[in-house]
Amino acid sequence: MNITIRLETPADYRAVEELTREAFWGCMDHPTCDGEHLLVHKLRSSPAFVPELDFVAETEGQLVGSVVYSRSKVVAGDGRETKVLTFGPLSVLPAYKRMGIGSALLHHSIDRAKELGYRAVIIYGHPDYYPRFGFRRAGEYGITNPQGASFDALMALELYDRALDGISGKFYEDRVFEVTPKEIEEFDKGFPPKAPVQLLPLEVLENKLPESVFHALASHKIKYIASLQRYNGVEMLSWEGIDKAGLEKLNYCLKELGFVEKVFP
Ligand SMILES: CC(C)(COP(=O)(O)OP(=O)(O)OC[C@H]1O[C@@H](n2cnc3c(N)ncnc32)[C@H](O)[C@@H]1OP(=O)(O)O)[C@@H](O)C(=O)NCCC(=O)NCCS
Repeated sequence: MNITIRLETPADYRAVEELTREAFWGCMDHPTCDGEHLLVHKLRSSPAFVPELDFVAETEGQLVGSVVYSRSKVVAGDGRETKVLTFGPLSVLPAYKRMGIGSALLHHSIDRAKELGYRAVIIYGHPDYYPRFGFRRAGEYGITNPQGASFDALMALELYDRALDGISGKFYEDRVFEVTPKEIEEFDKGFPPKAPVQLLPLEVLENKLPESVFHALASHKIKYIASLQRYNGVEMLSWEGIDKAGLEKLNYCLKELGFVEKVFP
């Protein structure tokens, strides 16, 4: 399959918002796309937007993927600010997932961000997906979210050697990411009606998993199967009650459920 990566143009705007809506629909622990299409829409007119890193993926003349970058920052304890990038939404049309399109968009945009001289990319994302592009837990650099928390899904990528040496503090995305449910609801009215997805609750695994594994997941407040995407398999092995055999069993159960989005390594 031939994948072409090119810059987005205004003629793509609506199609990109539609594909973002499709890509995210019910795929995280939210029954809709949780306003990701609105984010793309708002980002384009935000001062934080980076038009040089606004890419789409095409195959067979069809738009199948998109990635959008914006400027963000790390604020140290003494107030010193370091400019970094963040990306998102990153979207691939459901029928084209797992064909290398997300990877092509990321490799291309990361290479371009390096050429443009940016320091680092910090994101909230799937902790078992992004390490293949070089992302590491942001906590390893002493970088946390604005509340001071560090977790698997907060990841950082240096764009040149030792780019984050001596940089630690709280990571802030642009304010444009603060969208309200009301705004999302209004924006979504401009798209064809689509039924929210029925999210699978964690309880469907209760009698399939070893008790210790189920309890470990429940005690980490995982409510839905889709929420498992927020965690990294390696980190999960440090949770009380989860060992390698337990993780394998979890993989097996997820496959049985047809939940192929997540495979723990
Ligand atoms: C995440 C997403 C962008 C990946 O794009 P893609 O084109 O399907 O990914 P690629 O084909 O490049 O890579 C596929 C690999 O990524 C892995 N992968 C995909 N989604 C993953 C996830 N949520 N967690 C862990 N690994 C994941 C697949 O298991 C596959 O692994 P393999 O190469 O070992 O088989 C796409 O699935 C998507 O649009 N998802 C919905 C929106 C979303 O979650 N965006 C990212 C928010 S952080």
